[in-house]
Amino acid sequence: MTHMEFSYERVIRPLLFLLDAELVHLLSVWGIKIAYDLVLPRIILSSLLTVRHSCLSFRFNDVYFPNPVGLAAGYDKNGILVPAVESMGFGFIEIGSVTALPSIGNPRPRLARLARHEALINRMGLNNQGVDRVAARLSRSKNSLGLPLMVSIAKTNDVRIHGNKAILDYCYSFQRVYPIADLVILNISCPNTKDGKTFEDPNHLESLLSRILMVRDDVMMEFQMRNDVPILVKVGANVNSSTLKRLIDVCLSNEIKGMELTNTYPIKSENILRNFGIPSGGLSGKPLLKRSLQLVREASSLVGDDFLIVGVGGITRPVDALKMFQHGAHLVQVLTGLIYKGPMLPKKINNIIIQVCQEQGLRNFREFLEFLRFNKV
Ligand SMILES: Cc1cc2nc3c(=O)[nH]c(=O)nc-3n(C[C@H](O)[C@H](O)[C@H](O)COP(=O)(O)O)c2cc1C
Repeated sequence: MTHMEFSYERVIRPLLFLLDAELVHLLSVWGIKIAYDLVLPRIILSSLLTVRHSCLSFRFNDVYFPNPVGLAAGYDKNGILVPAVESMGFGFIEIGSVTALPSIGNPRPRLARLARHEALINRMGLNNQGVDRVAARLSRSKNSLGLPLMVSIAKTNDVRIHGNKAILDYCYSFQRVYPIADLVILNISCPNTKDGKTFEDPNHLESLLSRILMVRDDVMMEFQMRNDVPILVKVGANVNSSTLKRLIDVCLSNEIKGMELTNTYPIKSENILRNFGIPSGGLSGKPLLKRSLQLVREASSLVGDDFLIVGVGGITRPVDALKMFQHGAHLVQVLTGLIYKGPMLPKKINNIIIQVCQEQGLRNFREFLEFLRFNKV
């Protein structure tokens, strides 16, 4: 354990955990932003947390990832951390999920720690400033970001928006973010909204994607874009094998370039209600790893290597990320692991990739992925 890890786990984390989980989240987002805006803290942050190496870089379509570890959706819902996230050692960032209309989300409390299990339960309910405001912010800050920008969109959290209106709602967000993002993520698994799972029905996904492709063509023409921006779909952790297969079939026949697996695992429990005042929510962190690995493996066995798999869910240690790659992920993302292990986690994951490459004489990240798929970690 380095000095930094020791001080995070023994001093900083216990102090932060005395405060409300959502308050710490907000403070950390603004803390990072303020540190980045000041020259000296930015240089210190960057020198402590970032690592560059030829073994880490990865190209997908025209998108260049300096390293394969990203910040998952939900940490920076409104794009405040673009471009600050670059000095935190990530290789890409996912903003959102953003929705067509702004939303304050579900009533509080809506985020709880299960510290013994290195897990969180959240029922945020897609709180965000709405796509117009977020897109305007991203247009201003995107050019100073040297990393790929993923933007996640979801349906506005309002049960009155359903059926065709729900598709139009998605399409509105899509046309706003498509010209700005390097990759667009369609979050079809919003476990914390009353109607959040609608598009995890393969027939509904088909209707959504066919409309999204029409909007994409219009936007490309309007902005005279020569290359299309890859579109990915994010699914929930409780999707079953046959639905996953059908969803992938729908994705493949609608020019979807990849999938993110997984979102949080929806749970309902009297215990949770009693202890945290939350009736239900999505579980993230360590207990999710087994499930997300399983879904990543299932998905990767159904697609070719040109279909991008982003593995997310339960990565709290570098070895978890190695397992994700071994199960078929090309990229990984972290969120809950950052809270439990601190901001050094991306660098630690990247360092272990470099170490494996050096020990095995692997020249680049593709060789690393190939090596892992045939060897145990
Ligand atoms: C507080 C919180 C908010 C989240 N919000 C979103 C969201 O808006 N959109 C989304 O696609 N995923 C969201 N997620 C899910 C994460 O992106 C990720 O899929 C999940 O937490 C599993 O990864 P982890 O175990 O590393 O946290 C959220 C997760 C948490 C903990």
